[in-house]
Amino acid sequence: MDDHQLKPGIKIDYTGMMSGPQNPKGFDTQELLGLQNVLDQAHATLATRREAGEIDFSKLLATMQTQQVEIIEYANTVAQKFENFVVLGIGGSALGPLAVHQALNHYYYNELPSEKRGHRPRFYVMDNIDPVRFSELLQILDPRKTLFNVISKSGNTSETMAQFLIVRDTLRRVCGDSYAEHIVVTTDKEKGNLLPLALKEGYKRFVIPAGVGGRFSELTPVGLLAAAICGIDIHQLLEGALAMDQWIRDSKGVISNPAQLRATLAHLSWQKGKNISVFMPYADGLKTMADWYAQLWAESLGKRFDRQGQVVHVGQTPVKALGVTDQHSQVQLYVEGPDDKVITFVTVEKFKETQLIPIDLELPEDIQFLGGRTLEELLFAEQKATEYALTLAGRQHQKITLPTLDAYNVGQLLLLLEWETAYIGELLNINAFNQPGVEEGKNGTYALMGRKGYETRKHDIEEYGETRHILKFN
Ligand code: PA5
Repeated sequence: MDDHQLKPGIKIDYTGMMSGPQNPKGFDTQELLGLQNVLDQAHATLATRREAGEIDFSKLLATMQTQQVEIIEYANTVAQKFENFVVLGIGGSALGPLAVHQALNHYYYNELPSEKRGHRPRFYVMDNIDPVRFSELLQILDPRKTLFNVISKSGNTSETMAQFLIVRDTLRRVCGDSYAEHIVVTTDKEKGNLLPLALKEGYKRFVIPAGVGGRFSELTPVGLLAAAICGIDIHQLLEGALAMDQWIRDSKGVISNPAQLRATLAHLSWQKGKNISVFMPYADGLKTMADWYAQLWAESLGKRFDRQGQVVHVGQTPVKALGVTDQHSQVQLYVEGPDDKVITFVTVEKFKETQLIPIDLELPEDIQFLGGRTLEELLFAEQKATEYALTLAGRQHQKITLPTLDAYNVGQLLLLLEWETAYIGELLNINAFNQPGVEEGKNGTYALMGRKGYETRKHDIEEYGETRHILKFN
């Protein structure tokens, strides 16, 4: 079994990707090593881009180690002052805070009595503009007891700005002159429309460093502030991230560098027609980590052009799954459907809680075997059995294991997934750090909503699709 371990952190078992008696279609080590020259080049390019400040998700960790003091200080002050804390943001400005919160805090955090939350506020992330959900959130919150964190790197995103304007209006009406104390803004240092408003109206402000895109920004004030307010140990989060960052930057070989390894496996599988990358944690705490990963993978790697401007249309489609729930939903397809997927299981060695299944000798014999075992034993058995079923079917899979679901290991996981995305971007010869497809949609929205300067685009969009094919129930 091929194992890589940085004690006492994350472990990657990629046996299920490699050829073996059950999996003749798997890769052999030579295939991995065959990409080493390209990986060395990628390693050097990424290091240069890091130094040039173009990809700051790694470099900024050191800055954040210093800035965490200010974040924690502010977090502790407001945590005692407010009963609710609401993030207004979308995409990279929402999924990271949500994923880390779910991974590290009590699963039913908001339902806990205040003392069990360490007298910290309830936490909500409003990452959509569904009018019902938004209205209903405002109905249950008392604005006087609520702090809103408006997060937008660009400071221009229509969804976030619309939410912000509604909230600002409500706060002004309810809180009067002190309304600005209920708003904290996380945005770029120089750009965007949020910044001048924050300065003019006197909101507390945190900065998203310039060289980091939304989906790579969890370990900036985007995610660190929310985590600190809700009692997460952001020092440990950063420590774990730094340890992983160092491992990746210091080791060059494909079978010693975890990001190179995972990127290479993904790249080889993509070349062999595996168009789908399934991320399947076996821990409910990591369910929204799968959402975060899906955005990271999809926006970074789904590209039309390569770096030379050739049309390439690359990118594996990320699929979010949850073990064991999706064993009863999707695994049938993974085992017997098209052989177009690679599956990454994410497991946790030791859960923070245990549940013993009671022994009852009166029960029918066929369920008695469960008695005396624990829920986690059942969960592990189910994961292993699924792995085995996939192996028997010749389907490729790998496993990332976290010793425990704690801040240090979650920090490691975030950096591993960010770095592997950066490496595969290099292997695919694309820019993994832009999102032109998303920008097109953002601009179209500005146009349709009447933003000045977008008149021609508005006209184009309205002209487009005049012929509709509609089937209607009468
Ligand atoms: O990863 C990205 O850059 C995007 O998903 C953005 O985070 C998202 O579009 C929100 O943008 P902003 O933070 O500028 O409001």
